[in-house]
Amino acid sequence: MKHWYITGTDTEIGKTRVSCQLLQHLRQQGYSTSAYKPVASGALDAGEGLRNDDALQLIHASQTKTAYNEVNPWCFEEAVAPHLLAEEAGINIDTAHMADIVSRRPVDVAIIEGVGGWLAPLDADTSQADMARALNAGVILVVGMRLGCINHALLSVGRILQDGLPLLGWVANRIDPEMSRYQDNINTLKARIQQPLLATIAWEENTPDFSINPIIN
Ligand SMILES: Nc1ncnc2c1ncn2[C@@H]1O[C@H](COP(=O)(O)OP(=O)(O)OP(=O)(O)O)[C@@H](O)[C@H]1O
Ligand SMILES: [Mg+2]
Repeated sequence: MKHWYITGTDTEIGKTRVSCQLLQHLRQQGYSTSAYKPVASGALDAGEGLRNDDALQLIHASQTKTAYNEVNPWCFEEAVAPHLLAEEAGINIDTAHMADIVSRRPVDVAIIEGVGGWLAPLDADTSQADMARALNAGVILVVGMRLGCINHALLSVGRILQDGLPLLGWVANRIDPEMSRYQDNINTLKARIQQPLLATIAWEENTPDFSINPIIN
C-alpha cells in the first residue's frame, strides 16, 4: 500500500484538483484508492456536521466509502490557517490517530491532501512533515505554474528533502492561463528538480496523463 502526501507551492494552486485527477487516473489503471484531508479549514454545516469542500471532492473522486469524520477528522469552520483554530480550541492534531485510520483501509494507493504549502503548520507543534512521516508517505509537490513559482517550487523541494521525506515527484499545474514563457519555466524546474515530473496539466485540462510508473512499483 502506497501513501502519497500531496503538498503544493501555495494554497489555491490545485492540490485538490490534481488529487482528484490522480485518483481518477489510478482508478482507470485498475488501482484501488482512498483519499483523506486530515486537517481542513473552511467548512459549512448543512445539518450533518461541518463539511469541507476539499474532503467532499476527494470522497467523490475515490472509491472510499469511509465515514466523513475519518476522511477529515479535524474540520474547522473558519477559513483561516488551521493551526490558529486548533490552538484556540485546544486541539492537538494526532498524527498517530490519522495513521491508524489510513492503515485500517488497505488499498493500493492512499492520497492524503495537505493544507496550504509545505510549511503551513497543523497545530502549535505539529508540522506537515510530522504528518507525512507518521503516515509513512512519500510527498508529491503540485507546482502552481504562475509568475513566482520557480522560487516557491525550489524552496519547497529543498525543505521537503531537508525534512527527510521522500519526494516522489512533482506536477506542473497551469493555474494562470496567461503565464508567459510557460514551457521555459517548466524546463527551468526540470533542470533543478531531480525527482520526476509526473504530469503537466494545462489550464482547464480535465483528464491529464500521469506518469506514475516510476512511483507505483
Ligand atoms: N489547471 C487548472 N485549470 C483551471 N482551473 C484550475 C486548475 N488547477 C486548479 N484550478 C482551480 O483553482 C482553484 C483552486 O484549486 P484547488 O482547490 O485544487 O487548490 P488547493 O491547492 O487544493 O487549495 P487549498 O489550499 O484551499 O486546499 C479551484 O477552483 C480549481 O478548480
Ligand atoms: Mg485543496
